[in-house]
Amino acid sequence: MTDIIRVDPSRPDREAIGRAAARLRAGGLVAFPTETVYGLGAHALDRDAVRRLFEAKGRPANDPVIVHVDSVDRIVPLVEEIPPEARSLAARFWPGPLTLVLRRSTRVPDEVTAGLDTVAVRVPAHPVAAALLMTAALPIAAPSANLFSRPSPTQAGHVLDDLDGRIDLIIDGGPTLLGIESTVLDLSTGSPTVLRPGATTLDMLREIVPDVAMKSTSQADGAAARSPGLLPKHYSPRTPLTLYEGDTSHALQHLVRDAAAALATGESVGIIAAEEDWYALESLGAANLRLVELRYLGSEHDLPAIASRLYTAFRELDAAGVTRIFVRGFAADDGMGAAIQDRLRRAAAGRIVY
Ligand code: TXA
Ligand code: MG
Repeated sequence: MTDIIRVDPSRPDREAIGRAAARLRAGGLVAFPTETVYGLGAHALDRDAVRRLFEAKGRPANDPVIVHVDSVDRIVPLVEEIPPEARSLAARFWPGPLTLVLRRSTRVPDEVTAGLDTVAVRVPAHPVAAALLMTAALPIAAPSANLFSRPSPTQAGHVLDDLDGRIDLIIDGGPTLLGIESTVLDLSTGSPTVLRPGATTLDMLREIVPDVAMKSTSQADGAAARSPGLLPKHYSPRTPLTLYEGDTSHALQHLVRDAAAALATGESVGIIAAEEDWYALESLGAANLRLVELRYLGSEHDLPAIASRLYTAFRELDAAGVTRIFVRGFAADDGMGAAIQDRLRRAAAGRIVY
């Protein structure tokens, strides 16, 4: 039985948070909203609880999870040291959508770190997450609250769809604001490297630590080994998804061509696009358009809106039973664009048309 408690996301009820915190302290599994996506929490120093967490998600044991805390102070026992650049980044970006990978102490169970000598930590900004972490007064291991290889949940309903009956409690605080996962920055190696782009952009990080690098595509295999959650086939809908990158009008032409061909062979088609794309999509023809599951995520000039609706679109198209999904790409050079492109490329798992 999975209980659900609804709370006001801006002023979470103390009694409700207290009940959830008690579940966590007792080794239970509690899903809660953060500003990025819903997390599935377990007491990070309780090996059995963390093992149950992996089981509930069907997550392979070699994929480490992020430890969520209410303050920098609570990280001290978990790490070898807090390097000066971590302190500066924390002062600027915490609470918020930034995860730091630091060298860990022996206090952190291997179950959390998948046996790595590092631990990923973050202080989330969402009032519900903050209240829960403060009340539980514990470090909480929390991967995204989805079944392994499904898109991260941005609403409590997504968590319920994946994990009903497998976890103790869901705190429903409404839809999450950002909608894609935190930036993961590795500070453990001497060359600060973004392993996963997110809402804390490269430019923002470089204001504090000028030599931060983005893991390059050629590094992708190494980075995947260091951060197995970065393997392709993550963040994906079940339905095969093709991504159209490059010059927008060109990309849309190819998308329309391929969608029309798929429809002609009896496929059921979903299209994810920006509002500006409606005119280009008209060339599919009215009869075709009536058959297509169309999801407009927002204006291409409003990348935060696009990001916040992406995973919902994946889940809706899966639920609609389409057999192919076609998505227009977004340029990576514009802050949040890098995070959107990263998730779309993983979801496409190699099916990219330029
Ligand atoms: O926004 C988020 O980060 C959400 C919310 C719930 O906080 N959490 C999240 O967790 O996305 P998860 O487990 O789905 O993704 C964690 C990512 C994975 O790519 C994992 O490989 C990486 O962080 N990671 C965790 N520990 C690591 C470590 N010690 N070294 C390198 N990467 C690590
Ligand atoms: Mg995840």
